[in-house]
Amino acid sequence: MRVRIHPGSGVHAVVGVPGDKSISHRWLILAATANGRSVIHGLPPSLDVLSSAMCLAAISPRARPGLDAWARGVPAAAEGHGSTWNLRSDGRSSPVLEVEGEGRDAVVAPSGDLHCGNSATAMRLLAGVVSAGRFRSVLTGDDSLSSRPMERVAAPLRAMGASVATSDGCPPIVIDGGPLKGIQHRTRVPSAQVKGAVLLAGLAADGATTVEEPLPTRDHTERALAALGAPVRVEGTMVSVERFQHRGLEGAVPGDPSSAAFLVAAAALTGSRLEVGAVGLNPTRTRFLDVMARMGIKTEQRVSSVVLDEPAGSIDVLPGGDLVGVRVEREELPLVIDEIPVLAMLASHARGETWFLGAGELRVKESDRLAGLAEGIHSLGGDVGDEGEDLVVAGGGLRGGVADPRGDHRLAMAFAVAALAADAPSVIEGVESADVSL
Ligand code: S3P
Repeated sequence: MRVRIHPGSGVHAVVGVPGDKSISHRWLILAATANGRSVIHGLPPSLDVLSSAMCLAAISPRARPGLDAWARGVPAAAEGHGSTWNLRSDGRSSPVLEVEGEGRDAVVAPSGDLHCGNSATAMRLLAGVVSAGRFRSVLTGDDSLSSRPMERVAAPLRAMGASVATSDGCPPIVIDGGPLKGIQHRTRVPSAQVKGAVLLAGLAADGATTVEEPLPTRDHTERALAALGAPVRVEGTMVSVERFQHRGLEGAVPGDPSSAAFLVAAAALTGSRLEVGAVGLNPTRTRFLDVMARMGIKTEQRVSSVVLDEPAGSIDVLPGGDLVGVRVEREELPLVIDEIPVLAMLASHARGETWFLGAGELRVKESDRLAGLAEGIHSLGGDVGDEGEDLVVAGGGLRGGVADPRGDHRLAMAFAVAALAADAPSVIEGVESADVSL
């Protein structure tokens, strides 16, 4: 499906965004492996989160009825994976999830492959969960996921005692789980997915499990575990956990700040006054606002609640001046990893160059995002270079054109935002790729 986007003008609006995907994957896993009842509000109707729910239904018989009932209410699923861009409903909410769990030990062998769709978060986190089960699991994904690196999660799970085979480093992952022992793991690449997988496996392991990262990453796993009373210790970029069986959890998933980033950028590009409400304000996710501030975008955050250790509240976008180019250094990259596409679009409308340094991880996301961003900005009439691990966006504005996100949800949304401030109308192809994301 293609959309035609005309340059936009300012609005004054209060909006919400779908529930946070990163938190949703984790809370779903914790609910399905809990001992007791969980009630989760605000899960997003995204295909990625649906993938986690369906895999968990396959290994957690007690939780299955609740997970199935929830999935039936997800519009994208009901439409047979049709595009959520055309939904008549608000497209943001899904029913409340209510599940019973009988604990981690009640997890059973799946009768078929665990199909993780487009979601590496689902695959990597679930790999940690099934590594502790005494059965074989085969984790598969769509074409994009099938080419993504999985040794980064396979290696530590192997060291813990599971038998884990990848196919040349990529999915499918075949895991024969079993008794696990705690390890001290230093990740080479900063990755919250790998950290989360190892910590989830660590809940079932003998002895302490420690993950040390070269740079900080989002900390949703450790926050949720701490809120559930698990023995988690955090020291700088080191997190440890010990064997623990948690009870059920209850809470509302805060809105996804990574989705809010597109709206904040759209507001800045159209001179709009915007308030995004009920959005997650975990500092490991809001770093993009610091980068935007350096570009000249004024925002204010207000925390109004904390659920399972996750702060939430509002982001106000205030009237700002002209956008200027900035440098985004390697050190802050893991904390803005999902917002680089939309930051690059802001950069294409800024005065002066913007440098994203050491952004090589973007080459192994849902697509090679450095190449995709360069191609998209060129197609929309801008100037940009991607070389090795760096992206340099020239700035100066976009003329408008036809851009193809090549099946990548964040590129589709980023190009749509960029088109709002182009000189002429633009066409964005294949926007249904955003269905995984909403
Ligand atoms: C995520 C971590 C990040 C991010 C992804 C979600 C998570 O990936 O890009 O969209 O929920 O843990 P990496 O951990 O591979 O950097």
